[in-house]
Amino acid sequence: MASHPKDVVITDEHPKTLLLQKHADYIIGYSKKEEDYEFTMTEHFRMSGMYWGITAVDLLSQLDRMDRSAIIEFVRQCQDKTSGGFSPSLGHDAHLLYTLSAVQILVIMDGMDEVDTEGIIRFIVGLQNEDGSFSGDQWGEVDTRFSFCAVACLSLLKRLDAIDIDKAVEFVMKCQNVDGGFGTRPGSESHAGQIYCCVGLLSVTGQLHRVNGDLLGWWLCERQLPSGGLNGRPEKLPDVCYSWWVLASLKMLDRLHWINANKMRLFIMATQDPETGGFTDRPGDMVDLYHTHFGLAGLSLLGEPGLKQINPVFCMPQYVIDRISVSVQILAT
Ligand code: FPP
Ligand code: ZN
Repeated sequence: MASHPKDVVITDEHPKTLLLQKHADYIIGYSKKEEDYEFTMTEHFRMSGMYWGITAVDLLSQLDRMDRSAIIEFVRQCQDKTSGGFSPSLGHDAHLLYTLSAVQILVIMDGMDEVDTEGIIRFIVGLQNEDGSFSGDQWGEVDTRFSFCAVACLSLLKRLDAIDIDKAVEFVMKCQNVDGGFGTRPGSESHAGQIYCCVGLLSVTGQLHRVNGDLLGWWLCERQLPSGGLNGRPEKLPDVCYSWWVLASLKMLDRLHWINANKMRLFIMATQDPETGGFTDRPGDMVDLYHTHFGLAGLSLLGEPGLKQINPVFCMPQYVIDRISVSVQILAT
């Protein structure tokens, strides 16, 4: 029995060390299984899947096993000539979520010259609304995730000046709640994924001083359950992807030491599958690329030996961010 109604139990049977080579083989193998059921079912978010795989393999220092020219060609084909945005795969519509993934891939693979960068800027600028918020695509849904995607893309392209930054920041500040957290829109409940997006946007725009680091840091570290795992909201089960959304936010707030890192590490280690390689959301479930990427990203933030350092804002290897000379703000404590 778990000691908390919404928690899991970690036992001695679970892995305790990083199965590095297993994960590299799992990710490389995944990218080659084009006929598989699982590969087909992930077509509607393929561009993000590619970004997760490429980043994870780079953290494991095995990026040279990926086929660079095939990746760049795929990304190039997914750019919509009219709007300038990127779709998740051929035949789908362009969206800010996949435009950020495409830009991240191009920056990591050093292939930005191979696409229409002015088209990307045009797409993003066209999605900013009068109140400073961003729609994800032409259909208009508004969410602070899209504000982050827009600002992160422009920052990686060094074109933040193309949008109304003050209005973008004001909209995000309207999404802050009395508990210190942020939600999808004004009045929506605090959620760790949205907090990462809003804190990330404030970091990129140099406005982190507008958050109460102690209040928000407290809400974030309260996400840690007795198992060591983190949930995304009160009363939810722990999930390894929150070891990214929560830890990266704490890192930007300079309060990463507020969580119990040893227990966190052991929870993430316990979500590895020693047979297939890869990470699951919580021990005993099925592995996937998303949780494998965020499990490794979380371990990297905790300083796990054998993993490259990750940037807490862009969720990309730090050496890549250094290479393009982009800097981010960490809240001064
Ligand atoms: C939880 O999703 C996560 C979020 C809401 C944040 C998503 C952030 C982005 C898409 C921005 C880009 C991210 C990176 C790393 C560059 P969920 O649907 O799993 O939430 P649930 O746990 O409530 O189901
Ligand atoms: Zn998850």
